[in-house]
Amino acid sequence: GRANLIDPFGRHVTYLRVSVTDRCDLRCVYCMAEEMTFLPKRDLLTLEELDRVCTAFVRKGVRKLRITGGEPLVRRDIMSLFRSLSRHLRSGELSELTLTTNGTLLSRYADELAACGVRRINVSVDSLDPERFRRITRRGDLAQVMRGIEAAQSAGIKVKINAVALKGVNEDEIESMVAWAHGRGMDVTFIEVMPLGDIEPERIDQFMPLSVVRDRLAQRYTLTDTSERTGGPARYVRVAETGGRIGFITPLTHNFCESCNRVRLTCTGQLFMCLGQEDAADLRAAMRGSEGDARLEAAIDEAISRKPKGHDFVIERQARPAVPRHMSVTGG
Ligand code: GTP
Ligand code: 5AD
Ligand code: SF4
Repeated sequence: GRANLIDPFGRHVTYLRVSVTDRCDLRCVYCMAEEMTFLPKRDLLTLEELDRVCTAFVRKGVRKLRITGGEPLVRRDIMSLFRSLSRHLRSGELSELTLTTNGTLLSRYADELAACGVRRINVSVDSLDPERFRRITRRGDLAQVMRGIEAAQSAGIKVKINAVALKGVNEDEIESMVAWAHGRGMDVTFIEVMPLGDIEPERIDQFMPLSVVRDRLAQRYTLTDTSERTGGPARYVRVAETGGRIGFITPLTHNFCESCNRVRLTCTGQLFMCLGQEDAADLRAAMRGSEGDARLEAAIDEAISRKPKGHDFVIERQARPAVPRHMSVTGG
C-alpha cells in the first residue's frame, strides 16, 4: 500500500499544487504589480526535478496534481512534464492531473493536454467585456482566451471558469457570467480576493464578500446547496434554471482550512504548507546531490508534520498584505 501524508490536525494531504513558473503573460491587478521582478531561470527546478518531486508525492498518497504558475503554459516545453506525469494516471495511482490557466495559450495546447489525460481545467475569466478584461489583466485579449476555451472543449476537456469577485469592477457581471458559462456547459466559481503580495492598495476596497454575490444570484436563479466537491475549497450550488453549478471560494468570510487537503510547491522547490503562511520546506536542497529519494521523502514527511492550522487573512483591516509573496509564486 502507499504511504499517507497526515498532518498534526488529522488532515490527509492528497492534493499537490505545483507552480512551474512565477512568470505570466498577464498582470492581473489583484495578483501582480505592473512591474514584476521574476526569478532567474537558473533557480527553477528542471522539468525532470518537477517530475521527481511530483512522483515522490504520488508515492506518498497524493491523488490530485494541479499544475499552476504564474501561467503554467508559458513554461518552455511544459507538455513534456504533462506527458511524463500522465503515467501516474495510467497506473491508476493518480486520479486527476489538471491545471489552472489564464487561457491565453490554450488553443495551442488543448489537444496535447487532452492526450495527456487532462479531463478538466480551470480557466480564469474575470470579465466578459473585452475592454474591462484588458483593464483587469492589464494586457489580456479576451477573444484569444475565448478561442482557448473553445479549443479545450473541442478536445473533450471540461472547463470550469474562475472569477475573482471585485466590488466596483465586475460585480455588475455576476449574473451574465453565470448565464454565459452555464450556456456553454461550464461551471463557474467565484473567489474572494485574498491579500497576497504587495500590489496597489485598491484591492482592499475591491473586496466583496461572496454572500453579496450569492444574494444577488438568488434574486434571478433558484439555488440549491449541494454537497458535491471537486477536491478543492469550493462549495457548490446547483441552479435549477440552467442545470449548471456555481462554486463559492470564501477564504475571508468562511474559512475552509479545517478540511484542507493540499500543499503547494513553488517553481524553485519550496513547499508551502499553507497559502496564507510563510513557512516553507526546501525540497530542492533535499533532492539535489542525492541520487535516491530517501532525503526528499523524509523532507516531505517533516514538512507535513508542521502544516499549520490555517491562514489568518483579514482583508478589511490589512494595510499591508498578510503574506508578502505574490499569488503567482504559489499559484493560488
Ligand atoms: P478544483 O479542482 O476545481 O476544486 O480547483 P481548485 O479550487 O482547487 O483550484 P483553482 O486553482 O481553480 O483555485 C481557485 C482559487 O482557490 C484560487 O484563487 C486559489 O488561490 C484558491 N485556493 C485553492 N486552495 C486554497 C487554499 O488552500 N487556501 C486558500 N485560501 N485558497 C485556496
Ligand atoms: N485573491 C484571490 N484569487 C486570486 N487569484 C490570483 N490572485 C488572487 C488573489 N489575490 C486567482 C486567479 C486564478 C487562481 C489561480 O487564483 O484569478 O483563478
Ligand atoms: Fe497571471 Fe493568473 Fe496572476 Fe492573472 S492571476 S497575473 S493570469 S498568474
